[in-house]
This record gives sequence, C-alpha cells and structure tokens, in this order.
Amino acid sequence: MEILGPRGTRDILPEESYLWQKVETILHQVAQQYGFSEVRLPVFEHTELFERGVGDTTDIVQKEMYTFTDRGQRSITLRPEGTAPSVRSFIEHKFYNKAQPTKWYYMGPMFRYDRPQAGRFRQFHQFGVEAFGTSDPDIDAEVIAILVRIVKTMGISQFQLHLNSVGCPDCRPLYRERLIQYLTPFESDLCADCIQRFHKNPLRILDCKSPKCQLAVKGHPVLSDYLCDRCGQHFEQVKSTLNLYGIDYELDPQLVRGLDYYTKTAFELLLPDLGAQAAIGGGGRYDGLIEECGGPPTPGIGFAIGLERLLSAAQKQNSKAWQAKSYSPIDVFVVAAEDEFIPDACVMLEGIRNSGIKADKDYLNRSLKAQMKFAGKTGARWVVVIGEEEKTSGYYILRDMKLHEQHQIPADQIVDEIKSIMVKPEEEQYAE
Ligand code: HAM
Repeated sequence: MEILGPRGTRDILPEESYLWQKVETILHQVAQQYGFSEVRLPVFEHTELFERGVGDTTDIVQKEMYTFTDRGQRSITLRPEGTAPSVRSFIEHKFYNKAQPTKWYYMGPMFRYDRPQAGRFRQFHQFGVEAFGTSDPDIDAEVIAILVRIVKTMGISQFQLHLNSVGCPDCRPLYRERLIQYLTPFESDLCADCIQRFHKNPLRILDCKSPKCQLAVKGHPVLSDYLCDRCGQHFEQVKSTLNLYGIDYELDPQLVRGLDYYTKTAFELLLPDLGAQAAIGGGGRYDGLIEECGGPPTPGIGFAIGLERLLSAAQKQNSKAWQAKSYSPIDVFVVAAEDEFIPDACVMLEGIRNSGIKADKDYLNRSLKAQMKFAGKTGARWVVVIGEEEKTSGYYILRDMKLHEQHQIPADQIVDEIKSIMVKPEEEQYAE
C-alpha cells in the first residue's frame, strides 16, 4: 500500500524549492540590513515552555500542540512558534548580561495540529524576528518596518497593516472588567470557544472570527480609551515613528492576537486576496514573557511571517517574478556525440562547473538525438556538443536553446561566451 505524507504537510519539490531559496535570500538580507543576526533553534522543546510562554488558554496550547512523551519520559512538544524558544535560548545563554538590545531572527518549520485548509498547514514555515532588552517604542516601529520591507521587496503592494495597543498588566485588568460587563448579556450567544474563555481571556472574543461573536462585540468598549499613561505615550511614539518611515497603518481596536504574551503594541499584516487566512504575519511586544520564562525582567518585541502565505501572496500579486515555470536545474548540458568523446565532455563539464555555472551531462548512454531531447527537457539554456569534427577542429558547438541558434566556438572560450550572456542572480529583480 502506498504511504502518503501526513495530512497538513506538503513536499516542497524542486520547481518550488528554488523559489523558497529566493525568498530565504531576501529574508536574510532584510533582517541583516536592520542589524538582526540569525539563531537556529531546535524544533522541539520541553512542553512546559509553551504552556508557560504561549499561555495555557490559547488555542495553540489547548488544541494544537504536537506533544509526546519521549523515551526518557519527558513531555516534548514540536515548536508551534518561535518566540518562546528564542526567549528560552536568550535566558539559557545569559544574553541579558550582554549589551542590549539583542536582535535575533530565525526561520524554519513550525507545527500546529490545526484543521488543514488553503494557507493553513500542520507543518508550516515561519520567518521571525525578536528584539530583546529595550522598551524604546522606536524598536517597535523598526520591527514593523522589517515586516513591511519584506512584503514590499517581494513585490506585494496590496496589504494592510493593522495596529493596536493591548495595554499592560496595569491598565488591562480594568478594561477586561469593562469588557466582561459589556459582553455578559451576550454570553450565551457566543461560540463554544468564547464561552469557555469568557472569564479567562475575554479579549480574545474581540478577534474571534465566528459571526455570532462578531455581532456580540459590535460597539464594545475600546482598549485605547483605557490605556495607562505609559502605554498611551508608548503607542503615540510608535505611530509617530511609523509616520517618519512612511508606513501606513490602520488602527484596529479589535486586534488582540491569539497568543497570551502580548503587551502594548500588537500588529498584523493582512492581505485582501488571501481569503480566510488573510494574516501573513503578525507580532507585538511581550514585556513580561522573559520574566515569565525564568529570566530577569526584560522587554521584548517581534513578529513572525508565514512563508507559505508570503510566497502565495507574492505569486498572486507579482506573478512574473514568482512563477515556478522558468525553473531549470541547469544552464548548460554537455553532449558527447559518440562514446569516445565522453572524456572530453567530462573535461568540458568540469571547466563549466569550475566557473560556477550549473551544468550536467547524460548518464544513461543516450544517443545524440536522445541527449538533445533530454537537454531540452532539463530546460538548459545552452547545449555544448562534442563530436568527431569538433574534437579535430577544437571548435565545439554551442547551441542556444532559447534563440534556436548555434555557433562553433573554440573550446577554451565556451565558458566566457556563456558568461557574457547569462543573467547574474543579483540582477534578478523581485519587486515590480
Ligand atoms: P502567529 O500569528 O501565530 O504569531 O503566526 C505568525 C504567522 O505564521 C501567521 O500570520 C501565519 O502567516 C503563519 N501561520 C500560523 N499558523 C499557520 C498555519 N497553521 N499554517 C500556515 N501558516 C501559519 C506567532 O507565531 C508569534 N510567535 C509571532 C511573534 C513573534 N510575536 C512576537 N514575536
């Protein structure tokens, strides 16, 4: 019986993985432009980290974690997100003793046992940034600016940045109380999840997507009216720095995000054309999380972006740069017209590869005609042919498969000829 990949996972095959490499290059570049350094963290952690870090009233912890007991009887969880692991690592390696801020980024697979649908997977990939050790509102604006720069670099122009402040442990309790008062008459009308979290985490009702809950929260008291002075000033400064950077945002008082650790700034980047899974990235400040996870009181802020959603948005909005159909694993295919010229083909191949160009040859003992046909299938732009005449004259055939023309070129000039026509990867433009 055929064994298929587990539900909610997908194979990123070569025609697509090369696009992922392009996305990853952009992500490394943009993060580094802002002074962030990469961390590579394990894909599994102790379950307790997420229970404490992400919060035990969240959907992630209650229903979505891949948790198992390992052979040493430890409870282990495949990471559903990257913030709690980054915080764990920051504390474990005592980065709080170093000059701050600590600016980290990461990318890799995350795991959530969610109901798979378009744009939602059980294994998906995130790129995220985390800045620890400063509560300066300008870093909030900087982190948001990274998110915006990434989507713009990918050529995504239609997006909305939603912004809110979710307050802090000083001002949120009063708001929470007012919200509970306001929602009490509607309690029995709410969805099952929201009835359950009514007293534990009522703010989450605000961004519940269920139509019943959306109706109930209409006209709800707004958190920004309850912010303490410090949260209010912080929010004003974030907005004014975003204005300096020319970043447009929409204030969204219903934006509370699905993770418990947020304080003050919260944001999400939404795309009009991604349907139900409209958020491609989101984040916010989490000033209590490091302490909650056992470190010294240290503020932090970050975001994560879903790479499947990012790429799919780029393909919808900037299809020219992000379609896979132009993919070819090689640039040059070297053909030996007869078996006796295979050694010459190997020497040619090695010379081409030495110059950094992607090249290949036949390994199935194909005839000349079959090699030419196969070269066409690989999508190679050029074919070098070495036969009796070419070997004797020292002039090899260089066939341009795109222009359908061929020339005889001295063997030692083939590489230079190809290089002079090739588009260099750095000349590729992503944004339109
Ligand atoms: P999040 O909003 O849970 O935040 O996830 C961020 C992004 O990951 C989402 O906007 C979405 O693009 C992608 N994503 C989440 N779940 C799935 C899924 N099942 N399938 C496909 N994509 C998905 C966090 O994870 C926070 N750690 C962000 C953060 C960093 N906040 C502060 N620092």
